[in-house]
Amino acid sequence: MPAPLMSMSTFVEARNIPSHVAIIMDGNGRWAQQRGLPRVAGHREGSRAVRRMVRACRRLGVKALTLYAFSEQNWERPEIEVDALMELLREFLLSERDEILTSGIRFNAVGNLGRLPGIVRAVIEPLKHASRDNDAMTLTLALSYGGREEIAAVACELAKQVKDGTLDADDINAELMHSRMPSLTVGDPDLVIRTGGEQRISNFLLYGLAYAELFFSNALWPDFSEHDLHQAIASYQARERRYGLVGGDPRLLTIPPQSVRAS
Ligand code: FPP
Repeated sequence: MPAPLMSMSTFVEARNIPSHVAIIMDGNGRWAQQRGLPRVAGHREGSRAVRRMVRACRRLGVKALTLYAFSEQNWERPEIEVDALMELLREFLLSERDEILTSGIRFNAVGNLGRLPGIVRAVIEPLKHASRDNDAMTLTLALSYGGREEIAAVACELAKQVKDGTLDADDINAELMHSRMPSLTVGDPDLVIRTGGEQRISNFLLYGLAYAELFFSNALWPDFSEHDLHQAIASYQARERRYGLVGGDPRLLTIPPQSVRAS
């Protein structure tokens, strides 16, 4: 049996690592505010946490890590903050390029990428291309991303196909929709972590969340540590995933329904 991994007092079973971990990175602004710093300083520290989490997930054997780095709604933030975030994204992709390539990480980006400034698109595409054959882990950044927007875009694409006669409307089903979702090419998220103390999904990966386990952490994103990640995974490993089926001891299923009702 593979040896368990331990960080401080948290045990993570090496054989039941969630395949796809997705993270809503929240709390950069509050982290900065608590220190009397501009919000941008929180995002900068947040990008150090991103680097830490990519390394930690790669070490654990997570096969896909999806990070909510910028939502469609984030465009409404003050221009100075949006510009700083775009600059940080560019810096991150440039500074991590070598490590991404040498550690076997495939890089991907999902969302309304056409809305991103040229300085960001100019680093996304070459890194996607250079890392396309890597298979140790897929790192996906959700950028200018919205879950409802993604579903609407797939619906629009299918409607166009029906209109031009290449798809029969009766063939549209949940599986077909799933197969068209750019965020789910790596499979559904098994574990979604949200930092920053809020307990909501905020338009993230809506179609893929159907059976995801959710973990909410009070840590602000810049403070989210490898130990916090291990706690989230240990919590995931302690849960029983049933996918709408029955759980518990399978032998109970052999008891006739009548005697179950009578007991
Ligand atoms: C939410 O915190 C965070 C974001 C909107 C942006 C996330 C960006 C980073 C972690 C840094 C850059 C990303 C990469 C991939 C290098 P918030 O600002 O809403 O925090 P608050 O709720 O405390 O105000």
